[in-house]
Amino acid sequence: MVKKAVIPAAGFGTRMLPASKTVPKEMLTLVDRPAVSYVVEEAIASGIEDILIITSRGKAAMEEYFVPHFELEAKLAASKKFDELKKLKELTELGNIHFIYQKEQKGLGHAIRCAKAFTGDDPFAVILADDIVYNEGAPATRQLIDAYEKLHGVILGVQYIDDKNISKYGVIKPETIGDGLFRVTDMAEKPKVEDKMSNFAALGHYILTPEIYDAIDETTPGVGGEIQLTDAIRKLIAKGLVYAVDFEGKRYDAGNRLGYMKASVEFALRNEEIGEDFKAYLKELAQGL
Ligand code: UTP
Repeated sequence: MVKKAVIPAAGFGTRMLPASKTVPKEMLTLVDRPAVSYVVEEAIASGIEDILIITSRGKAAMEEYFVPHFELEAKLAASKKFDELKKLKELTELGNIHFIYQKEQKGLGHAIRCAKAFTGDDPFAVILADDIVYNEGAPATRQLIDAYEKLHGVILGVQYIDDKNISKYGVIKPETIGDGLFRVTDMAEKPKVEDKMSNFAALGHYILTPEIYDAIDETTPGVGGEIQLTDAIRKLIAKGLVYAVDFEGKRYDAGNRLGYMKASVEFALRNEEIGEDFKAYLKELAQGL
């Protein structure tokens, strides 16, 4: 059973500068909740009970977001603002959330290595803190956990990406073994379009097994001097341990300006409170574009 999740959120977020100089990019809001909140909610809705967020200096707001604020709660109760109070309380009931510092930003592989004591001998989910998936059915991580329960290997969450964008991602060489299920026979990080092994890219959602730690330890720094998770996963592919699932859901990369704006607009349209009014506003605005 996969009951633990690791959320790497220690990166500098240079694509969201200058905001990310002082506001962690994971704390930039989509409507009224920061990006990391959506990711934690996805984990909990997938059956995860314990979450470790990998953080770094200057991101204390992320830690405070998940702990109770008793003074504010008392004030809201006294002024009968029960809706707001409910929203605050729901946040602190999102499972057990732990934090650990990645002392130097040496890449995603290095960030995940910081979770070794937390995950121990257990398989665990990884969700990147700005990789948000909206799905009316099972959450993306749940779909990966279901695949893990059948296959008991590393599971990569993948989706089809067009040629224009494929070079931004870790791309797999898939061998179909079921409906939307693949055995992964190779993988490359950010390949040129002419070298791509397929159009299926890993999109920020993984189930990893403890074997990943030895693979990370054996991985030398790659592109940008960083320890790349893809390089470590390739070592496990060589041992036949890696699968992929083409998960359902609309995925947003909230870590770059355009992706963040698309996510903001679409989550606002889905919002119960402002959705209808926002849609009317957008339609009116679009007429003048
Ligand atoms: P990104 O590639 O998005 O890097 O990392 P970044 O630093 O966050 O953002 P840019 O590219 O500079 O704009 C993917 C995920 O891995 C985490 C990030 O926080 C993000 O969730 N990460 C990356 C770490 O936790 N530590 C690292 O050393 C690098």
